[in-house]
Amino acid sequence: MANSSRRLILSALPQIAPSILAADFAHLGDAVENVSGAGVEMLHVDVMDGRFVPNISIGMPVVASLRKATDLFLDCHLMIVEPDLYVADFVKAGAQNVTVHQEACPHLHRSLQGIRALGAGAGVAINPATPVSTLEYVLDMVDLVLVMSVNPGFGGQKFLPLAYDKIRELAELREQGAFSFRIEVDGGVGLDNAEQLCAAGADILVAGSSIFGTPDPAQSVTDLKARSEQARMTRV
Ligand code: DX5
Ligand code: ZN
Repeated sequence: MANSSRRLILSALPQIAPSILAADFAHLGDAVENVSGAGVEMLHVDVMDGRFVPNISIGMPVVASLRKATDLFLDCHLMIVEPDLYVADFVKAGAQNVTVHQEACPHLHRSLQGIRALGAGAGVAINPATPVSTLEYVLDMVDLVLVMSVNPGFGGQKFLPLAYDKIRELAELREQGAFSFRIEVDGGVGLDNAEQLCAAGADILVAGSSIFGTPDPAQSVTDLKARSEQARMTRV
């Protein structure tokens, strides 16, 4: 039923990707329906293993249930050690993009090849302390670069401004190298920084608490979209 193409991610930019981590898991279907109604095209799914990050969240069964419940693009952010062992299971469950952490992959090139071979979009994430330069030799083979603007593991943390420079650097490298990856930013994103992040070059804003932690998540999506689209106008 769902569009399995990783290219869906490119249909309209910038995108808001609601992170379901901040939703009420007992009413996940309702939460997804609510934000779908506000016109989002993708959902961000945070997978944590209690090892790579000091928290445990959800896994493949939830992805499979989401896949049955929605046609939205499923963007899975794996905050786990040894992600290669589970990538195929996530794709089988319905993930269309799988993002692994640079810090969790001693053989990053192989990990990314593995994701692409399964027909999914391949993303790579970098923690706040990890420089963009560590990605130099994989920029031509990724669909997405995820800039963490908090230390991963928890929702509701304070945004780290170091993300701006990384986003600008990636946007520049993309232009120079004629690469096609999208730039995603995750952590502490909200109305106060959405415009500035998109102006710096972010294509996808992941937002958890600033959507599902508000009384009206659909309205919050609409407001975030308006802010980010405003930046797109001023960028050119
Ligand atoms: C954090 C996760 C984020 C998280 C963001 O480790 O990767 O996706 O859900 O939550 P907020 O938007 O609340 O910072
Ligand atoms: Zn995330």
